This record gives sequence, C-alpha cells and structure tokens, in this order.
Amino acid sequence: MKVLLLGSGGREFALALKLKASRLPVELVTAPGSDALAELGARVSLDTEDPAAVAAWCAAHRPDLVVIGPEAPLVAGVADAVRAVGVSVFGHGAATARLEGSKAFAKAFMVRHGIPCAASQTVTDLAEGEALIRAWPHGYPIVLKADGLAAGKGVVLAQDEAEALTTFRAFLGGQFGEASRTVVFEEPLVGMELSLHVLVDVDADHAAYALLPACQDHKRIFEDDRGPNTGGMGAFGPIPFLRPEDVERMRRELVEPTVRGLQKDGLAARGVLFLGVMWTPQGPKLLEYNVRFGDPETQVLMQLLEEDLPALLLEVAGHRFEGRELRMKPGCALTVVLAAESYPESARRGVPIQLGAPGLTVIHAGTRKQDGQWVTNGGRVLNLATLAPDLASARAAVEAALPEVHWPGMQVRRDIGLKALRHAEAGKTVQDPW
Ligand code: AMP
Ligand code: GLY
Repeated sequence: MKVLLLGSGGREFALALKLKASRLPVELVTAPGSDALAELGARVSLDTEDPAAVAAWCAAHRPDLVVIGPEAPLVAGVADAVRAVGVSVFGHGAATARLEGSKAFAKAFMVRHGIPCAASQTVTDLAEGEALIRAWPHGYPIVLKADGLAAGKGVVLAQDEAEALTTFRAFLGGQFGEASRTVVFEEPLVGMELSLHVLVDVDADHAAYALLPACQDHKRIFEDDRGPNTGGMGAFGPIPFLRPEDVERMRRELVEPTVRGLQKDGLAARGVLFLGVMWTPQGPKLLEYNVRFGDPETQVLMQLLEEDLPALLLEVAGHRFEGRELRMKPGCALTVVLAAESYPESARRGVPIQLGAPGLTVIHAGTRKQDGQWVTNGGRVLNLATLAPDLASARAAVEAALPEVHWPGMQVRRDIGLKALRHAEAGKTVQDPW
C-alpha cells in the first residue's frame, strides 16, 4: 500500500512510525518530509500548500492514500484537488478546514449550532474595536484572536487595556497580513484545558465519528505553566481523573452538535477534528477547532492506538467509516518535548545533538542530519515518548531516559503530567479547581 504523508514535524514522524507498524506492507512517501522521515520512506520535493502540484504528483504516482498532517494544505484546498483526481485522502476539504482557518467562521458555527463556548465579538473596524476594549464587559485578560492562520502566534491574552489596544492595532495593521485584519474578541475562560480528537466521516447522508482518548498538552515553555505559550511542551493521555461520564458529556455537548452542524451546513468532513476544550465551572466549553491532529498529542495517541493505522485512515478517507469504539492499548502514554535554545521566540539551529540509547520511542521533529550527525533544526527538536501502565510510571520512564539526550541550550519540562497526577492522587475530578 502506497501512502503519501504531507508534513515534516513530530506529528508526521509519529504518524509515519505507526503507518509503518501496520500489518500491511506500507510504502511510505513524505513531502516535504525531513532527514528523519527519509529514514522511514522516500522523500519527494513538493510544495505541499499548492493543490495543483500535489494533485499532479498523485495523478502520476497513484498512492492508495494521502494523509495530510498540517492545517495549511487543508485550508489551501489540497484535499479537494487530490480527491478530484480520484485518490483517497485523509483530510478535510477547504470548506470544512475553515473551522481552523477562520476563527470568526468557527465562532459563528459554534453559536449557530448551540455549542458552549466563550462569548465573543468579531471586529474589522478600528474605532469599533477600540470602543469595545474601553467598555470591555467580561473582565481581564481580554482574549484577542487573529482570524486566520498565524503559526500559533495569533492569540493574545491581554492583561490590561493598554496591551489590548496595542495588540488590536498591530493585528488590524496587518501583523499577520490578511489573517489579522479580522479580530475575534473573547471572554476569558478559566478552567482545565483538554485536547479531544475525533475521527469524522460526515456528509449529507452519512455521519460517523469516533472519539480518541482525551489528552492534555502543556503549552507554556517553563515548569508550573509559566512563561510564554509554545506549540506544546509535552502531553499525556488518557487523563486519569476524567470519568466516563465526563467524556460522555463532551460527546453530547460538543461533539454531537458539531457533527450535526456539519451536516446542516453541508460541510463534508473526512479526517480528524481536534477540539480544544476548556472545562470550566459550568462544564466543557469549546475553545477552538483544529482540522488536523495535534502536536505533540499525536505522539500520545499513536502510542495508545491498537488499531491498524493505514486501514483505519483508509476507512475514513474512503467514506466507509462506521462510528465505533476504537481499540486502544491499556495504560498511559506520555511524550516530553526537547526544545531548542531560545524557543519559542526563535530557535538556535545547527547545534549537534548527543543522542544515546534512550530505550523508548524517539520522535524527531526539528532535526537535520549534517555529516552523519543529528543537529537542531527547529524549535521543538526531539521528543521522548512512551506507553506505561500508568501516568506515574510513564513519567518515571521518560525521566530515566532523559540523560541519553543532550545538547547545549536544550530545554525540557520535567513536570509533564505532574499536576494531573497530583489531581488524581488527591481524588479530584475534572470539575474540581485545577
Ligand atoms: P486557540 O488557538 O484559540 O486554542 O488559542 C490558543 C490558546 O489560548 C488556547 O490553547 C488557550 O490556552 C488560550 N485561549 C484561547 N481562547 C481562550 C479563552 N477564551 N479564554 C482563555 N484562554 C484562551
Ligand atoms: N498541541 C496543540 C496543537 O497541536 O495545536
């Protein structure tokens, strides 16, 4: 089975390992790929955000399945173009990808379909936004979101009026080009953040979905959730204190209205939806939709998944998916990100990595091979991932492996999963203060 995988980071490396672990022989091709991915399959040079270029390659090489990792190709319409040449794609068309590509579109969808979320207002006019900030009714921080894709930097939690005004003016002034000329203002939500992934195969006369275990990411760069936001510094799942009734509540209040909403709006979906959830004192509220797998959450999910990945993705891509309970391995999976010096502001590249034998799964994200030596080549460089009987032993396994990897300036959070472990040990639930 020939699979084209688009992307180059840790998410794609985790997907690639799991694709290769199939009982089917898988011939993997990645684009643009990376030096690490090149060790798992062939690598082709393609502009992955150019629908015509990807479709032309698919028409010529006829892969059995295309898996689209990042959001940008989905928003650009790559899945539509590839389907149009008769090739199966795991990934949504551009119309549905707007759920991630436009925060204003996503908020309007949530409101239209009665999905619990933060109160919000969408603004495109300078005077209107300034007046809104000056008479802000929801308390601080004011959450400002650039409407479009902004490489994870388009959300600012402004702590006071001056910061809100500065941020808003910079956004409207084109800080992220067209992506920030529309700004969504949101009420601040307080609570516990969760990542909920749902496989979806939906169109007008078919609505199948399946939940993957809820995970927790750690967004801040420093331990104890301090410092600036990152793409994610580590994740684990399932969440030990999340009860079946809590998952059921998210299914009922967030997932089912989403699936029905897609159908009502005529939005076909064939891939994954990753719901960013804030569990507030009033229950779960939707922060955002992502139309792709999370990174680093995917590393956790691929460790847990018992199912044969290419067969499963092909069911969704081929519009043959029947919603069912997915088979998962017992235990808890955890991944810890090893990040470059000065991440997230920038990333020191080209630093040689000492990589021993950690004895667990090493996931490459931002690495490059130079004269036979791995060197840093991005913000999030490597990840150590494992599956263990429980969260405490997963943490201990990664801790024991850490001395095997090092480079000058490497940043790592040693507290991934610790807050959750204490929460569980204290007998608390998702409803208790976090
Ligand atoms: P988003 O890309 O919309 O998920 O926002 C990025 C991050 O900002 C989220 O993961 C949250 O940590 C935070 N965030 C987004 N919206 C809100 C909100 N309404 N209240 C509090 N935090 C938020
Ligand atoms: N880990 C968060 C994300 O992938 O957006």
